[in-house]
Amino acid sequence: MEKIVVRGGKKPCGRVKISGSKNAALAILPAVLLASEKVSLSNVPDIADVRTMLSILEDLGLTIRRRGRNTLEFYPSRLRGYTPPYNLVQKMRASSYLMGSLLARFGRATVPIPGGCNLGPRPIDQHLKGFTALGATCQIEHGLIKLAAEKLTGAHIYLDVVSVGATVNLMLAAVAAEGRTVLENAAKEPEIVDLANFLNAMGAVIKGAGTDVIKIDGVKNFGGVEHVIIPDRIEAGTFMITAAATGGEIVVEEVIPKHLEAVTAKLRETGAEVEVEPEQIRVHRNGPLVPSDLKTFPYPGFPTDLQPLGMVLLTAARGTSIVTENVFDGRFRHVDELKRMGAQIKVDGRTAVIDGGVPLSGAPVSATDLRAGVALLVAGLMAEGETVLSEVDHIDRGYENIEEKLASLGVQIKRLQIRDSAKMAGDPG
Ligand code: UD1
Repeated sequence: MEKIVVRGGKKPCGRVKISGSKNAALAILPAVLLASEKVSLSNVPDIADVRTMLSILEDLGLTIRRRGRNTLEFYPSRLRGYTPPYNLVQKMRASSYLMGSLLARFGRATVPIPGGCNLGPRPIDQHLKGFTALGATCQIEHGLIKLAAEKLTGAHIYLDVVSVGATVNLMLAAVAAEGRTVLENAAKEPEIVDLANFLNAMGAVIKGAGTDVIKIDGVKNFGGVEHVIIPDRIEAGTFMITAAATGGEIVVEEVIPKHLEAVTAKLRETGAEVEVEPEQIRVHRNGPLVPSDLKTFPYPGFPTDLQPLGMVLLTAARGTSIVTENVFDGRFRHVDELKRMGAQIKVDGRTAVIDGGVPLSGAPVSATDLRAGVALLVAGLMAEGETVLSEVDHIDRGYENIEEKLASLGVQIKRLQIRDSAKMAGDPG
């Protein structure tokens, strides 16, 4: 096990190249199973979740060649089956996407109920409702979801909640269904658009991705494609908020500013200067932060994945700020950790009230999930003294080179093996 140690006090300054989008890559990789010719993907982030998905695809029989750190080639292969391995699927939520792609490829899928970040209850009822509408039977037995369809047939599906996962899964299945599928109340995230662009380049017929009505005309054959994954707007938002929270100055490079409008607007509201150029954004601030209310919503609203970081930012704004989490129940597990660092936060249901302006102090804290983990690192950069973060494997699931990127901005950060960390002061043991 490893820990990350950060020391507060140095303001991060410099430029950071943003990696490819984790959530787009995790939606696109299962879609590769449909291709009958070579697929080449570039700007694939080298993160643990992607490596897990690649291991699952290899286990299913796909031939994968790495051409550099972020470029992968996939060769059409005789697949071994439609049952991805339990131990790998358990590691992440996005392995649920194998349901849609295996159903499209084989008409069958047996997938363990997926794991992933613990953000409270994460049902998949909308995914299963959609598969059923497309003509599949769904059974849950011994922790496995068993899907089978003689034939997938296009259907009109209204999602009761706006769900990224259900939208992705149903797109993956519907591209191979006979006839037209209409997904209403679909998610509009840029990662959905990237998946649609990828599938369309392979021969699928998808219209309306990026709006809440997606129309899919099923096709029988999918060819090869060369595709570049979009930049990770959550990683970009992470560095933007880091600059504002610490009073540093960071330029995020190779981003799509349109995907970051909610973050840009919120940062400006809190007093940060945000200079937007066609492919980069500079964030810094000249004066103190001002309190603000933050509400998470599906895209184009403020992303729930940046809520823990938004909260850290608001601890530095003197006065009262209110954070409302509208997407997930139970996404406030980082609050107890922030309180160890001296933050004054009260949680009531989906609302957190922050009494900001109280300086943070370094403490031993634990990454309760991926985004909470990185938020605690940033809190450590703002704090006086040393913060020792444990459970860092959560961070490695979704951030490529996080320490290298932060270290290149001039902050003090290092990773320790647990046997080294036992010697450190303040280590919880
Ligand atoms: C995806 C992202 C995650 C992000 C989230 C919301 C990936 C791999 N993960 O997660 O980073 O935080 O979108 O932007 O892309 N729900 C149901 N029934 C369902 C499905 C979802 O009630 O069948 C609910 C969830 O409990 C949650 C809300 O819908 O309250 C949104 O969840 P969803 O958009 O599906 O999130 P994920 O796809 O799991």
